[in-house]
Amino acid sequence: MTTPSNPVTDLQLQHRSVRKYLSTPVTDEQLELIVTAAQRASTSSNLQIATVVAVRDANRKRRISEAIGGRDYVENASVFLVWIADFSRNVELVRAQGVETETVGLIENTLVGAVDVGIAAQNALLAAESMGLGGVFVGSVRNNPEAVSTELGLPKHAFPVVGLALGVPDPEEGTGLKPRLPLSGVLHHETYNVAAWEHAVESYEEEYREYFETQGIPGRSWARTVTRRIATPEGLHGRHTMRDSLRSQGFDSE
Ligand SMILES: Cc1cc2nc3c(=O)[nH]c(=O)nc-3n(C[C@H](O)[C@H](O)[C@H](O)COP(=O)(O)O)c2cc1C
Repeated sequence: MTTPSNPVTDLQLQHRSVRKYLSTPVTDEQLELIVTAAQRASTSSNLQIATVVAVRDANRKRRISEAIGGRDYVENASVFLVWIADFSRNVELVRAQGVETETVGLIENTLVGAVDVGIAAQNALLAAESMGLGGVFVGSVRNNPEAVSTELGLPKHAFPVVGLALGVPDPEEGTGLKPRLPLSGVLHHETYNVAAWEHAVESYEEEYREYFETQGIPGRSWARTVTRRIATPEGLHGRHTMRDSLRSQGFDSE
């Protein structure tokens, strides 16, 4: 890379998901700075849709883990953050003006909620990483959004989009930087370029296989991983019924 790096991009380029933690806690001061940094992110129309529920209670973490298929990184995290697309505040504000909201259920606002939450949550993870903490996003909360919503006491118009398990990284975990597609495959100039990604995927397969070999997992293929995830409903681990889950929380997704 020819552009000089800086401490922020250095940190971004060192990201790896951390799923094993020491017992050292994430302090309340750290948590507050992490969520303040998340809140400072841009937010669609300043709607400030993101709410985060911080779960530290061991029994609650265990119940959430069990409900979503058993995830030890949820149970062992010092704090498990659940990021909520939360229109409930806004709906109440609108009602207080004597008006009913007609658009909260529209798919556009479902997208607004998911995008805002994702942007805020990534700000949080980067802030945590800047403090020497580590974490992993947990899309698996959507394996069973009903149970997670009940466990957290979410009101209508509030939906658990993604979790973020945080803790002090266990140095024994030993994962490295998982390679990404070559830049030429994802950075297209002016118009979309199919040939660019075709070439990139070919060389990525090799890098991907080699990376997993260093992790003691031989014979991995990115194409097979992608296929397992998106070819059939089974790859979604229960999330193929998301429209119903969204509706039950007041997101009609029309
Ligand atoms: C929205 C989102 C949801 C994710 N959900 C999970 C999850 O449920 N379980 C998990 O182990 N990793 C999860 N991850 C982590 C990805 O698997 C990980 O980022 C990816 O494999 C790349 O690895 P790296 O972050 O170590 O570079 C999620 C990541 C994102 C962005």
